[in-house]
Amino acid sequence: MNSSTSPFGKPLARVDGPLKVTGQAHYAGEFHVPGLLYGSVVNSSIARGRIVSIDASAAEAVPGVVLVLTHQNRPPIASYDEPYEDDDAADGSPFRPLFNDRILYSGQPIALVVAENLELARHAGSLVRVEYAAEPHHTDLLSELETMHKAPAELPSPRGDVDGVLRGAMLRLDLEYSTPVEHHNPMEPHASTVHYLPDGKLEIYDKTQGVQNCMRYLEGVFGMEGQIRILSPFVGGAFGSGLRPQYQLPLAVMAALKLKRSVRVTLKRQQMFTFGYRPRTVQRIAIGAAPNGQLEAISHQAIGQTSRFEDFTEHEVEWSGMLYECPNVKLDYQLVALDVYTPLDMRAPGATIGVYALECAMDELAYAAAIDPVALRMRNFTAHNGNEDKPYSSKELRQCYEQGAERFGWSRRSMEPRSMRDGHQLIGWGMATGVWEAMQMPASAKACLEPDGRLVVSSATSDIGTGTYTVMTQIAADTMGLPMEQVEFRLGDSNLSQAPLEGGSFTVSSVGSAVQQACQALQQKILDAAQQSPVSPFTGVTLDGVVFDGGRMQLKDRPDTAVELTQIVAVSGVLEVEVKAEPGKQRENYASATHSAVFVEVRVDESLGTVKVSRVVSAVAAGRVVNPKTAANQIMGGVVWGVGQALQEETQIDHTLGRYMNHNLSEYHIPVNADIGEIDVIFVEEKDEIVNALGSKGVGEIGIVGVAAAVANAIYHATGKRIRDLPITLDKLL
Ligand code: MOS
Repeated sequence: MNSSTSPFGKPLARVDGPLKVTGQAHYAGEFHVPGLLYGSVVNSSIARGRIVSIDASAAEAVPGVVLVLTHQNRPPIASYDEPYEDDDAADGSPFRPLFNDRILYSGQPIALVVAENLELARHAGSLVRVEYAAEPHHTDLLSELETMHKAPAELPSPRGDVDGVLRGAMLRLDLEYSTPVEHHNPMEPHASTVHYLPDGKLEIYDKTQGVQNCMRYLEGVFGMEGQIRILSPFVGGAFGSGLRPQYQLPLAVMAALKLKRSVRVTLKRQQMFTFGYRPRTVQRIAIGAAPNGQLEAISHQAIGQTSRFEDFTEHEVEWSGMLYECPNVKLDYQLVALDVYTPLDMRAPGATIGVYALECAMDELAYAAAIDPVALRMRNFTAHNGNEDKPYSSKELRQCYEQGAERFGWSRRSMEPRSMRDGHQLIGWGMATGVWEAMQMPASAKACLEPDGRLVVSSATSDIGTGTYTVMTQIAADTMGLPMEQVEFRLGDSNLSQAPLEGGSFTVSSVGSAVQQACQALQQKILDAAQQSPVSPFTGVTLDGVVFDGGRMQLKDRPDTAVELTQIVAVSGVLEVEVKAEPGKQRENYASATHSAVFVEVRVDESLGTVKVSRVVSAVAAGRVVNPKTAANQIMGGVVWGVGQALQEETQIDHTLGRYMNHNLSEYHIPVNADIGEIDVIFVEEKDEIVNALGSKGVGEIGIVGVAAAVANAIYHATGKRIRDLPITLDKLL
C-alpha cells in the first residue's frame, strides 16, 4: 500500500480481458497437439444394474475409429481397488469410470469411442450396443425419506432447550421448504486434452479449479508419480463444477495410455447433467420468538439426496446457529442415498439452500410479529458466532442493511401484501440476509524480479473468469510499488507453487496473502542485494526504512537515494523467492464471515403469474475489496444465479427411468438478459485486521446467498402467497 498510484482497491479492467475478446485465450478443449484423437463418451441408459454385454463391432467398423474403450479392455489401473480420494471428495468411495460392469446411475459413462475426429467418434458412439440387466432403482428423495441416515458432518452441538422454548414461545413457526436438483451449466463444458509426450509423460489441458488436485488424482489413480502436468490457463466458468476431476479426465488418460497417442475428450452439454449437481433437499425450520420478534429458539433440519457410493455434505444448517442472536439452537442434517450420482459443490454450496429457508422463515416471522423485515434482522443482530462461541473478526452487516435499504428506497415500502401495484402488475419488495464463511487455506507463491525490472509472480491457482489474474497482479503491483504493466501473474499450471483449489471464496485470502508475502520477501532480497555494495546508502537499513515505488527503492523520505530495481538486478542477477502463507494464528480466536443484505423488487403479472425481478440491491461486507469492478461482477453473477434459483432452475427427473430429462439449455432454464433488471452492488466499508494482512475476505459466493429468499419474500409481498418450494414457477402462483 505504497503510493497514491497503487492499483489496490481500483476498479481495473481484467488484465486477461484483451486475450479473451480477441480469441487468444485458449480453453481446455481448444489446444492443438500433434496427432490428436477425439473421444466421445457413451453413457448408461439405465439407473441401476449390470452391463451384460457391450457389442462395439459396428462402432469399430467405422473407418477412422481407433478404439472403443470399456471396462473390459481398459488399461489396468493402479488404485481402482482402493479408489483415490481427491481434495474435494465426499465421504465414501469415489466413482471409478469403467471400473466394472456395475451401473450406479443413469448417465454413467460406460464406454469411450476414440476416432480421428469428433464427429466420427460421436457417430460411432451411437452404434455401440449395450445389453443391461436392469435392477429396480430409487431416485426420488421424497419417497425414500424413511431410509435417511445421519450426514457425516460435524454439526455444532445443540445449545439451550430448543423443544421446551419452542413449546412456550409467544410466536411460533414451523415451516417446510424444498429445493430441487440444479445442474452446473458453465459456458465451457468439461474437456481434457491429453498430450502424450514421447517419453510417455502426459501434459494435460483440463477444465479445472485445481490443477494440482487433478495432477495428484491422476498420479494416484494411474500410479504415475511425477509424470503428469496439468495446464489450465483459462476456465470458462466453473463455480464448483471444476473442484473435482470429472470423468472425461481419467477416460482421456486411459485412452492415451492404451493407444500411446494424444486424446481429447469433451463433454456435450447433455453430459454436463451426468455428474455433480446441487442436491435436492427438504428442510424444516421451527422458530420461537418473543412478540417483538426477538429470536428465542431455532430448530433447522435439512435432508438432502446423495449417491449410494458417497455421502455428499455441505453446510446447509449451520447458518441458522450463527447469523443471529439466538440462545436455543438445534441443527440436524440427514442424507438419503439414491441411485444417482453424488452431488457436488455449486456456488455457495449449502448456504444457497439453508439460508434460503432461514431467510424465508425470518420474513414469515416479521409478518407474524408485524415488524419490518429489516428491523427484525437489526433486532436479532449479533457480533458473536453462537456455533463457535467466538466474536466475529468483523461484521458490518448493519451497514449492509442501512446502505442497502437507503439505496433501494425501502422506507417507502408498505408492509401489507398486495398493497403496491402498477396496472395489472403486483409489485413486491422483499429482502434477505446473506452470509458465507471467510476462510483461508495454506498457499504458496513465487516472486521473481527479472533483469528488465519486470516482476513475475506465480502460483498454481486458477481463474474461472472471476479475476484471479487481475487481483493477484494488483496485489503484487501494490506491494512492490510497480505499475500494473510491469507485473505478470501466472497460474493454471500444476508445476507452479502449491495452491489450494480455487473455491470457497478463499482465493484472495489464501493465494493473495501468499502473493503479498512473496513480494515482501523479494523486497528483502532486493534490499540485501543493494547492501552488497560497500558504499550503499542502504547499509544497516531494514525493510521498514525503505520505500518501493515506481520501480525504484529509496530510503524513507530520501528521494536522493532512489535506485532503479533494474540497476540492482543488473548486478545481482535474477532475484527469486518462494513463500508459503498460512492462516494467521490471530484468526483462531475469531469467527470470520462475509455478509450481505439483498433487496429485491418483483413485478408479478396478476393474471399470468409471471415474475420479473426488476431491481436488486446487494450490499456486501467482505472486508477490503481488491478490485471493485471484478468484485461487483462476481456479486452480479451471484445475483443472476440466485434469480435463477428462485424462479427457474430445476433439473427434473423421470423416476420411472431414473434419468434427468431436461438436460439441455432449452429445457433447463437459466436467466437470460431479458430476465434480469437492474442490479446495484454496494460494498460497505469493513475493516478487518484479523482475517489476513490484506483485510480481504473474498466475494465468490456471497453474491448468490440470500437472493432466492429475497425474491420469494418479494413475491409474498406482491401476491400474499408463500411458495416454499423452489423454483417459484408461474403454475405455483396461479
Ligand atoms: Mo465454489 S462452489 O467453492 O467453486
